[in-house]
Amino acid sequence: MKIRGAVLEQFGAPLVVQELDLEEPRAGEALVRLVACGVCHTDLYTASGADPSGYSPTVLGHEGAGVVERVGEDVTLVAPGDHVVTLFAPQCGRCVHCRSPRTNLCLAIREQQNRGHLPDGTTRLSRSGEPIRHFMGASTFAEYAVVPEIALASISPEAPLDRACLFACGLSTGLGAAMYTAKVEPGSTCVVFGAGLVGLGAIAGCRLQGAERIVSVDLSAERLELARGQGATDVITGGASAVEQVLELTGGFGADYTFEATGNVAVMRQAVEAARMGWGLCTVAGVAGKGETLDVVPRLLITGRRVCGSSFGGVKGRDQVPALVERYLAGEIDVDAFVSHRIGLDDVNRGFELIEAQDGIRSVIDLPGGL
Ligand SMILES: NC(=O)c1ccc[n+]([C@@H]2O[C@H](COP(=O)([O-])OP(=O)(O)OC[C@H]3O[C@@H](n4cnc5c(N)ncnc54)[C@H](O)[C@@H]3O)[C@@H](O)[C@H]2O)c1
Ligand SMILES: [Zn+2]
Ligand SMILES: [Zn+2]
Repeated sequence: MKIRGAVLEQFGAPLVVQELDLEEPRAGEALVRLVACGVCHTDLYTASGADPSGYSPTVLGHEGAGVVERVGEDVTLVAPGDHVVTLFAPQCGRCVHCRSPRTNLCLAIREQQNRGHLPDGTTRLSRSGEPIRHFMGASTFAEYAVVPEIALASISPEAPLDRACLFACGLSTGLGAAMYTAKVEPGSTCVVFGAGLVGLGAIAGCRLQGAERIVSVDLSAERLELARGQGATDVITGGASAVEQVLELTGGFGADYTFEATGNVAVMRQAVEAARMGWGLCTVAGVAGKGETLDVVPRLLITGRRVCGSSFGGVKGRDQVPALVERYLAGEIDVDAFVSHRIGLDDVNRGFELIEAQDGIRSVIDLPGGL
């Protein structure tokens, strides 16, 4: 079939929206009619050429939500008509990591996905016979996508897809960092560095876990205000004195749980230093630049602080994204506050400009096939 999609032709150049060919789904794959897609930093990072593992030509986009239109052979996990969120972190349910409750890093299709291929090593996307690679197993800046069934979470049809798409990446990453990676305990004190979608999601996750005190640290007054809306009880303007201010707020000890959601290694260090001696757990969700390292004074670890990282918030996508969406539908998560701009597929490059200008939390692309 013919579809329109936003292609990364050349690193550092604007995406080009154009007509492409999309083949029918093969075994274990589904054809999804996309309704909405968020524009995330990772798309911009790849488009800029900064990501050393990036490739082109490819259709970008990975925060997609839509409706399953058709399925290939042997597909059992989704059916036509299902409302779905795409998962750049799939869940096969069978690999050694999927069978362990300790990680969400499914091993099933990693290599092929990193190469821009579907699990059988080929692409369904092409242009005049030239293969176009799939991005993060999703390629959702498009009207339709063919996606492995293990990379789709079936969600309640009640959920508006232009909100549900945020659960495909940033929002679940933040929520999950607090709920599934750190497993914040009721009554605890939490500090979240960064109040973009990931940090705001972490604040909401801390609140859902019953944290008593949630401190948001960011450079932007506007974002600190949004943080209050998600449940922050205290706010701090980031900078050199942030750790000192956290210590002041916590009787000199630091927080039970700290979260880093900026991608800045100096802030990661602050997040470690703001964690409490004895048991403070620092969860790093931000993605640092190539070659950067985290500097930690070992004494901080010996005296009981722990550091861990979190990819996609530790969320096991097919099981846990639908559960998070249910909590949104129950009124426990305010997703509307995160959708700052609505744009069309042809405005995708404007979505990147808005990220660069730090204008709003998320731009959501309404796709032509929308409901
Ligand atoms: N681990 C994962 O699976 C995963 C998934 C999605 C995104 N990410 C990463 O998470 C990070 C956050 O993503 P986002 O979409 O929320 O980004 P964002 O740019 O919207 O938010 C980052 C926030 O950090 C704030 N900030 C910058 N410097 C600061 C400082 N010194 N002190 C305090 N705050 C500071 C900024 O003001 C901004 O509000 C990025 O690095 C992104 O790549 C990770
Ligand atoms: Zn993303
Ligand atoms: Zn797996």
